[in-house]
Amino acid sequence: MKVVKTAAELSQLRGKLPGPVGFVPTMGYLHQGHLVLVRRAKAENASVAASVFVNPTQFGPKEDFKQYPRDPMRDLALLEGEGTDIVFMPPMEEIYPPGFNRWVDVGRLSRRLEGASRPGHFRGVATVVARLFELVKPDRAYFGQKDAQQLIVIKKMVTDLDMNLEVVAVPTVREPDGLAMSSRNTYLSPEERKQAAVLYQALTLAKRLYGDGERNTAAIRRKMTALIQKQPLAAIDYISIADAETLEELDEVKPPALVSMAVKIGRTRLIDNVVV
Ligand code: PAJ
Repeated sequence: MKVVKTAAELSQLRGKLPGPVGFVPTMGYLHQGHLVLVRRAKAENASVAASVFVNPTQFGPKEDFKQYPRDPMRDLALLEGEGTDIVFMPPMEEIYPPGFNRWVDVGRLSRRLEGASRPGHFRGVATVVARLFELVKPDRAYFGQKDAQQLIVIKKMVTDLDMNLEVVAVPTVREPDGLAMSSRNTYLSPEERKQAAVLYQALTLAKRLYGDGERNTAAIRRKMTALIQKQPLAAIDYISIADAETLEELDEVKPPALVSMAVKIGRTRLIDNVVV
């Protein structure tokens, strides 16, 4: 496994990699959710590249960029264990050279849901992912369904900018109690960690109600809200039932619909979703 820090080194090595190349962009502090993406990329491509870069431009001014957990040595050991060929770990100035001022803004899709709660978030995501795609030149790129809106925004960017690569969606990896794996779960105290299981319980409830024939999204959201409010440390940011492609809110569930939510457990903001 080669670890590269600069764009110049990366493009030199990239030329020698057997194709097709699968790429997994990450912000590090890797867990099984990330590693499943790497495994999938490994299974479907001749070579696998991953990146570890905590991208400042996707964090809001009051968010956790500084505290975001980091453990590069452990990340490298885990990536090596999965048979990754190249890891790109750029310092800030490789991605954002002084005077950098070229942004990718995917528009309407990126203003809904997470975009409404975190203004500018998807502009930062799209910008860094476009830059990484330019440098890594992957044939396929792997993203988790955990960040459903991110996946939709990236797919739209790839189509709109005619980027010549395939975006592959990988199902969410969960803890035994259903909590979606996330680097941010490390922020949770033991009591918060217990209560965090309510996100997936609420999503499971939504699926069950839909299965029982309920189509009214207000009724479904009301029941999800009541369930979540039973946890004293949980505060709902939003619960959405939207068209899985356009992200327009629905009055009646019409598949494929994306049921998604952001809930703060104590000070930690968690997101999760299911598609019905
Ligand atoms: P990060 O949060 O590190 O996630 C990297 C990739 O792993 C994303 O595609 C995310 O959806 C996926 N992932 C995270 N948890 C997962 C889980 N439990 N199951 C399945 N996949 C999971 O997402 C980012 O970083 C950044 O926004 C990035 C795309 C790297 C741009 O900076």
